[in-house]
Amino acid sequence: MSEQTNFGPLFQSQTTESETTQLSFNGRVPSWLEGSLFRTGPSLFDIKGKKLNHLFDAMAKFYKLSFSGSSQKVFFTSRFAQSDAYNKAASTGVLQTNEFGSSPKRSRLQTFLQAFDFKATDNPNVNVFFINQRFFACTETPFVTEFEPSNLNTLGHLNLDDNLKGQVSTAHPHFDFSTGKLFNFLIEYGPTSTYKLFSWKQGENKRQLIASIKTRRPAYLHSFALTSNYVVLVLGPFAVNPLELLLCGKPFVANFNWKPDLGTSIYVINKHSGKVTPLECDPFFVFHHINACEENDRILVDLLAYENANIVQDLYLNKLASKNNAPAIPLATRLTIDLTNKTLDKEIFSEKGIELPTINYKQCNSTRYQHFYGIGENKAGDFLNQIVKISSKSGTIEASWHEENCYPSEAIFVANPDKKGDGVLISVITNIELSNSFCLILDANDLSELARIPIPHLIPFHFHGQFREGLL
Ligand code: CO
Repeated sequence: MSEQTNFGPLFQSQTTESETTQLSFNGRVPSWLEGSLFRTGPSLFDIKGKKLNHLFDAMAKFYKLSFSGSSQKVFFTSRFAQSDAYNKAASTGVLQTNEFGSSPKRSRLQTFLQAFDFKATDNPNVNVFFINQRFFACTETPFVTEFEPSNLNTLGHLNLDDNLKGQVSTAHPHFDFSTGKLFNFLIEYGPTSTYKLFSWKQGENKRQLIASIKTRRPAYLHSFALTSNYVVLVLGPFAVNPLELLLCGKPFVANFNWKPDLGTSIYVINKHSGKVTPLECDPFFVFHHINACEENDRILVDLLAYENANIVQDLYLNKLASKNNAPAIPLATRLTIDLTNKTLDKEIFSEKGIELPTINYKQCNSTRYQHFYGIGENKAGDFLNQIVKISSKSGTIEASWHEENCYPSEAIFVANPDKKGDGVLISVITNIELSNSFCLILDANDLSELARIPIPHLIPFHFHGQFREGLL
């Protein structure tokens, strides 16, 4: 076992894979719960003993937990994504792709010859999504990886019949249930760079460009907001000179700098017409949006705002390994946008820090909502060690789940099809003292425990997932 870190095994390689296995558990799976949770996340933090630099560099492993409430059965499967990044590193013993904070060693001549040849990674360690009855995992590049839902085998890259290009994208596409369209961005770097908003309609095999926004200083983009009529792009001043990015050969994120003088640029894009309204705000940094909606001619955007982009530095693996160095945690913040008067207010509406926010996505995405969920700190400096339910109106914590030495993953809401507003949260928890992981099913109303399911191998800290109803 490698060196013990501040967070024990949360950020250490875990190479065990699991064929589909039936798990025993305590408690009861709700009788209405039928379906599977698909997740991805970092699982290999070193290549042949050489440590990768950043949490976002680690090679992806897919996980699947299938629940049958009617038969009280739970199954678990895990499998490394057979991405090009993983396969090339495994076969040569060294990193071959440009990851977020690590890049392959190159001579100056190689760097010169490969200028503008941005070999983006396909390591799908951030999120999963479903469209057209197909299952995909992604990172923050245009390379999207398809996998087979029954056994998590990697099927290859997604290819679409369009010419939309860019070097980076987001791993947080939104699905608009009213139109059956998926929305996401590409960023194309160059002397002038372009944010490209596109939609991908269910049933089609090509994307439509909706809007292009030009910039000379593109910002890091992790997620965005969707309402009934708008897409809102929030760009904190963590910016890059694209020519340096394409020419100098440094790892991707090492090219970005915090430039508070630039402020935060906000673009409200009409998702039907493509019309763009630019606005400005004081500087802050965001990974995740909670939700957004339109109310009384205003647009409300709820997001998790960091004071600056230091969190990106905090997530370097050597920082995570040092004692007493808990990463920054953002605060729930509401932007209120008045498009008529082109004004914007920013207000922190919950004083307790949380990350990895989730909502009842099918019911509440793009509309008014009552609650959201997230992973917060039990005590200041604890990092993400409790699951919380927060009122979107008052910002107060209405319920929480915490256990000593336990670090929960994102808590995913699954709606009870028989009772509107009712549902469960499913989270995978890692106990760093016992070096094991278990799945929790919590009642989403009061976060009381319904079932606890030990998992056959430890799962390191991981990012995002999706639940698919009806598929075991
Ligand atoms: Co994310």
